[in-house]
Amino acid sequence: MILPKLAVVMLAAGQGTRMKSALPKVLHRIAGRTMLDHVLDTVTALSPERIVVVVAPDMPAVAEAASARPGGHVRTVIQDRQLGTGHAVTCAKAALAGYHGPRGTGDVLVVYGDVPLLTPATLQSLYARRQGENAPDLLGLAFRPADPAHYGRFVLDARGNVERIVEYNDASPAERAIGVCNAGVVLGRAAVLFSLLEQVQPNNVKGEYYLTDLFALAAAAGHRTGIGEADAEEVMGINSRGELAAAEAVVQRRLRAAALAGGATLVDPASVWLSTDTRLGRDVTVQPNVFFGPGVTVGDGAEIRAFCHIEGATIEAGATIGPYARLRPGTVVGPGARIGNFVETKNAVLGAGAKANHLTYLGDTQVGAKANIGAGTITCNYDGFGKHRTQIGEGAFIGSNTALVAPVRIGKGAIVGAGSTITEDVPADAMAIGRGPQTIKAGAAKRFRDQRKPGGAGKNKGSSGKSMGGKKKASRRRKDG
Ligand code: UD1
Ligand code: CA
Repeated sequence: MILPKLAVVMLAAGQGTRMKSALPKVLHRIAGRTMLDHVLDTVTALSPERIVVVVAPDMPAVAEAASARPGGHVRTVIQDRQLGTGHAVTCAKAALAGYHGPRGTGDVLVVYGDVPLLTPATLQSLYARRQGENAPDLLGLAFRPADPAHYGRFVLDARGNVERIVEYNDASPAERAIGVCNAGVVLGRAAVLFSLLEQVQPNNVKGEYYLTDLFALAAAAGHRTGIGEADAEEVMGINSRGELAAAEAVVQRRLRAAALAGGATLVDPASVWLSTDTRLGRDVTVQPNVFFGPGVTVGDGAEIRAFCHIEGATIEAGATIGPYARLRPGTVVGPGARIGNFVETKNAVLGAGAKANHLTYLGDTQVGAKANIGAGTITCNYDGFGKHRTQIGEGAFIGSNTALVAPVRIGKGAIVGAGSTITEDVPADAMAIGRGPQTIKAGAAKRFRDQRKPGGAGKNKGSSGKSMGGKKKASRRRKDG
């Protein structure tokens, strides 16, 4: 199949007012990924020669995110004022020299940044229709949602050809009754598309230059037009937080289905939240109420118990996480290792079979294979200015309630006594104890109770003034005051 060379124009300059957000609309996330990236991922699958993203001047973050795409082949152009979707496409014209004009031979695919669930397959089938001698010059994408709401409507003639698209605000009641809606995708011969764009006028309720007017202009000029059709769920537009949440639900449903099909057990799929890049191996079990942020890979046979929050982490085969664990970016849990309840890790690499089972914080830490981190161990990685590393050797044993003040190293096979505050390196196989020595006062507990018994010496009589821990002075001072 020989297809024309292809450029993509993605529109992302709209203010997205209905989102009521300080963040540009296309930077809102669905399943951990921005709408911008969802759409760019989709169009990249078509291997276009060029991708141009149209942004507004006050959106440096969008331009940066677009330029940061791997491959670096995404360009941005600025639409100074948001005069409508047709005007936005015109802004990309200069960046697409060679596609249009008298000798231009390329195709342009226009996609909207707020239609994020579009799939490559739908675009590919539209693109395939541009081949052959009688291929339409201009193609739109239609869908039939249960509620056509505010979408533009395709007005078709008796033979099913597109007469025009009418925007909701400009539509008559009869036109609003049309169920065939515009998905917001246009594919056409660049030369035709850009020359027709010059004729678009802002004579509509909103006073904008509508891309959708191209269809009426093309029909009037005798160009062949056509429409493809997409699944309604796939081309939903995101204009509000409600629609964003609806899109999230759709994507989560897809991701859960894919995880199950890939051989993971989700005990309660509806309560597991995945990111687009979450990788679950075979025979992974995920218990209810687990959240996977971006960048998580889980190896075969690992178990994620209930109520975990995991992002930017690699969990290797056979490891066990949770319940109630929080794994932050830079965490690597080695094969068969164990992170238990109320453990937080960040930038922490645990070797095979290492364990941190209870109530622990491991930050900027390396834990050797088979080391055991006792309950309540805290790496003190931050001194208010910088972050420092803790290294714990293979097979080391850290007693409960230990503070490891970084930078510090605990050698292979070393033991740290419970309740220690460790500020100096501990050599391999050494034992370190860093806590106040214990004192024993024989019989003192009994004397203390006897004093406080009714009829006993009593704490307010003050005759002996003796209480626990040599408080004599203090109590006398109180009396004197
Ligand atoms: C648009 C379509 C409508 C379609 C719907 C599908 C037009 C005129 N209407 O309506 O037929 O059913 O999408 O979801 O195209 N944008 C710019 N610059 C502008 C204006 C918009 O870049 O000056 C961008 C927006 O950021 C957005 C996209 O274009 O990504 C669509 O604009 P929006 O205002 O959301 O159009 P809708 O009213 O949803
Ligand atoms: Ca929209």
